[in-house]
Amino acid sequence: MTGGVAPTGSSPIGSTAAAVDLPAGVEWITDPGDPRLADYVSLTDVALRRRTEPERGLYVAESEKVIRRALAAGHRPRSFLMAARWLTDLADVVAQARVGGIPVYAGDHDVIETLTGFHLHRGALAAMQRPVLPPVGELLAGARRVLVLEDIVDHTNVGACFRSAAALGVDAVLVTPRCADPLYRRSVRVSMGTVFQVPWTRIEPWPRGGPEVLREQGFTVAAFALADDAVTLDALAADPPERLALVLGTEGDGLTRHTIAAADLAVRIPMAGGVDSLNVAAACAVALWALRPGGSAPGGAATV
Ligand SMILES: C[S@@+](CC[C@H](N)C(=O)[O-])C[C@H]1O[C@@H](n2cnc3c(N)ncnc32)[C@H](O)[C@@H]1O
Repeated sequence: MTGGVAPTGSSPIGSTAAAVDLPAGVEWITDPGDPRLADYVSLTDVALRRRTEPERGLYVAESEKVIRRALAAGHRPRSFLMAARWLTDLADVVAQARVGGIPVYAGDHDVIETLTGFHLHRGALAAMQRPVLPPVGELLAGARRVLVLEDIVDHTNVGACFRSAAALGVDAVLVTPRCADPLYRRSVRVSMGTVFQVPWTRIEPWPRGGPEVLREQGFTVAAFALADDAVTLDALAADPPERLALVLGTEGDGLTRHTIAAADLAVRIPMAGGVDSLNVAAACAVALWALRPGGSAPGGAATV
């Protein structure tokens, strides 16, 4: 049974659409101003989306893989929007949406581009309900490695840190109040959907009070910074504490003075070649690998 046939010929914005047999329940869209598509408006306007997505309790998953990972994590879709050929690749998702009464919209690439602001190379989008974040204490219980992202502004860096966290044994990620949104479309995509896999939440307040909460829960708080009195990563990795919180700082200025002062120790990754620091996501991967639970120190202990 089909839900209809997409029109041939000119759409309202002058594109041509191939005749497509639409699966039941799929609606063919021709008007980028259709109010039912409000969740997808101006996806490239970072300032707008950063404000409106949390306000409206949604986030946008892009690409088949990311959509499937979001659904597998139990997140609830509000609607789907895709180019016609993805109706086949996502046939099972579309069928499931129909059962659950979730709208599925399909349309020409140029209608979707006018609506979203970009060409949908990855074929499919889903507007998802933003999950309720768990309390910090719930995530810390039983955790051995916790990653804290302090005020990271770049969504690519946030996504890359989550990918490393998932791959290198982190039990929980805490993001500070000013840290970029892990559920922003770009963070999700760069993380390869691992933002749905690694438990995370916002820690507030921060920095005042935050490191203390971690310490009260039995964590050694390690501030990754270029401080003069910092121990080397090799030294810490030679005998890492059982429960360790790794705190990484913002791209420009690094960690706040308060965070460094409140931490149990500062840790630096030794640099060569006249380079003063690594990109935060690179530093994150190096540190998490060296300090992975059950891992051994690469090359043994070095100087403090
Ligand atoms: C680009 S760096 C910021 C550099 C900043 N100018 C500073 O003084 O910290 C971003 C973050 O990555 C981590 N990082 C980068 N290179 C590091 C290194 N060599 N040792 C320890 N942490 C490092 C730190 O957490 C830092 O806050």
